[in-house]
Amino acid sequence: RGKRAFIAGVADDNGYGWAIAKSLAAAGAEILVGTWVPALNIFESSLRRGKFDESRKLPDGSLMEITKVYPLDAVFDDMESVPEDIKTNKRYSGSSKWTVQEVVECVKQDFGSIDILVHSLANGPEVSKPLLETSRNGYLAAISASSYSFISLLSHFVPIMNPGGASISLTYIASEKIIPGYGGGMSSAKAALESDTRVLAFEAGRKHKIRVNTISAGPLRSRAAKAIGFIDMMIDYSSANAPLQKELSAEEVGNAAAFLASPLASAITGAVVYVDNGLNAMGVGV
Ligand code: NAI
Repeated sequence: RGKRAFIAGVADDNGYGWAIAKSLAAAGAEILVGTWVPALNIFESSLRRGKFDESRKLPDGSLMEITKVYPLDAVFDDMESVPEDIKTNKRYSGSSKWTVQEVVECVKQDFGSIDILVHSLANGPEVSKPLLETSRNGYLAAISASSYSFISLLSHFVPIMNPGGASISLTYIASEKIIPGYGGGMSSAKAALESDTRVLAFEAGRKHKIRVNTISAGPLRSRAAKAIGFIDMMIDYSSANAPLQKELSAEEVGNAAAFLASPLASAITGAVVYVDNGLNAMGVGV
């Protein structure tokens, strides 16, 4: 039987989540995605209208099939934790069962189990503010959406993940080196995500034989990255200074994720794997 993957954080064809879905599909996996509730309608209608058909093309010429799109807001674990203003918000009330617990319940009912969990989402409302000017609420929101969301997804999915399964998240080097402009507590959120990768690798490995890794990816012109505002500069900086002087493609990150999710990586867990043209290894730019 082919593997089944759930990819959280796909809402268009530009980001890492989409590229990871494609690489997993090309390797024979069945694809389920979790799409942020406010982005769900436009994503589903674009899919239906064929807007993504060109970018659905796999190396063998066939088109990637997404078996099912689930509405998801990974900031909420269950319905009890959803505040009234969100419940009654028009963008949310049009969908149902989008808390982490409900999504996992639906996946269980629909398919029984999964093999691969991908977390490709982040959000920091104050990302453009320096850490010194970040509010408590902004900081906690960044951690909630970008770090705890992974703990929540993994803890809810783990009971229906087949032994030997794998999970992957996406991180950024701002967790360990100073990247001015990556503010609002997003650098802190990535540091937490990387530390959690190690602790969760231990816990999920011992208890469920599940591997947990994170990919520290180089800069990509995704929707989220464009919102931060310095992505072109980061891409230029990388092309100028990295050992490999080429623009990083989302597909290269997708392929690394497919490797990490596969039995080829059966002894790799708790790792931060750099997929960044080697930029992390440089001490000074030359
Ligand atoms: P993206 O915009 O394609 O993906 C982010 C997704 O998160 C979007 O689909 C958005 O709808 C979703 N999202 C936000 N809040 C959510 C919530 N509460 N519940 C569910 N979904 C939610 O952008 P990108 O850049 O591909 O981001 C994917 C991951 O890659 C993120 O973790 C990001 O930090 C990471 N990354 C991105 C880099 C870049 O240069 N683009 C570099 C290194 C890491």
